Amino acid sequence: MRLPSRVPLGVFPTPLDPLPNLSRHLGREVLAKRDDLTGLALGGNKIRKLEMLMAVAQQEGADVVLTSGAAQSNHCRSTAAAARRLGMDVVLLLFEDRHTDVQGNLLLDHLLGAEVRLQPRAEWPPAQSRLDDAAADLRKVGRKPYVVPYGGSGPLGAAAYAWGYLELLDQLRGRAPGCVVCVTSSGGMHAGLVAGAVARGRPAPVVGVSVADPATDCEARVLKLAVETAGLIEAPPAEAADAKVLDGWQGDGYGVPSAAGREAIELVARLEGIFLDPVYTGKAMAALLASAAELPEPIVFVHSGGAPALFAYAQELVRH
Ligand SMILES: Cc1ncc(COP(=O)(O)O)c(C=O)c1O
Repeated sequence: MRLPSRVPLGVFPTPLDPLPNLSRHLGREVLAKRDDLTGLALGGNKIRKLEMLMAVAQQEGADVVLTSGAAQSNHCRSTAAAARRLGMDVVLLLFEDRHTDVQGNLLLDHLLGAEVRLQPRAEWPPAQSRLDDAAADLRKVGRKPYVVPYGGSGPLGAAAYAWGYLELLDQLRGRAPGCVVCVTSSGGMHAGLVAGAVARGRPAPVVGVSVADPATDCEARVLKLAVETAGLIEAPPAEAADAKVLDGWQGDGYGVPSAAGREAIELVARLEGIFLDPVYTGKAMAALLASAAELPEPIVFVHSGGAPALFAYAQELVRH
């Protein structure tokens, strides 16, 4: 396996923490891979991806970075911070939804000095062509733009999670994980973890949890990306059985907190003093809590971050 080069942005390896109180509560051993603690600009999984993506931006001599996401996108906040750290400007195409108050991630985007271009909700999900058009306009005025794909989820961003899987195996010091549970959204993190697992001979299955799309759509997306990622890192390709996604935890869809997700956020905060988030990790933890009896131990939960969005979702989180 050959991992792409990286530019240092975050703090790695991230901790692998036992969750003793949650484990006792469930009667199952649960560990957390703390990719919420990647360090830069309140952390999260995108910092790991950006170490690889921004290495290419730097090699290409980019002076401005463009990307896209929801108004409360963790990915956009992380990309803005990475660009700033490397002396680049940043343009964010953000999509209007019920969370466009200057709070949470959107507040941080403004503090980072990102140029925020709000797009009508009807244009969601963001077509790559919209980002490419914005980049072409910047080229016309002499800028050198670099486009980070939606969610940072091309093969290059996903390769960062093959690295994440190897990091996790090292931290377990020869002990095999039972399974690895993660969020599946744009699919890069999940696909990279699968690529890492396959490259190391499948020591433990990766179980994704969809937070928006039907599980079958996610599985197809993750498999395709895992195969492309394996090509990039010169590893054997994944097969369909490697890309499994749990259904039923999406609630009312992307960016809408679910009752089970809210309960999971409260439970983990109260048992472990750890904050999950309302869009991604709360829903994934809800799936883990419900499936724990059937999941092989130790269950490694990838905490991929997102807590800054809690503040933008305050009304929906306390109303219940
Ligand atoms: C906190 C958090 N967890 C998980 C994900 C999902 O990662 P991916 O888009 O690679 O599926 C995201 C993506 O934005 C995220 O912000």
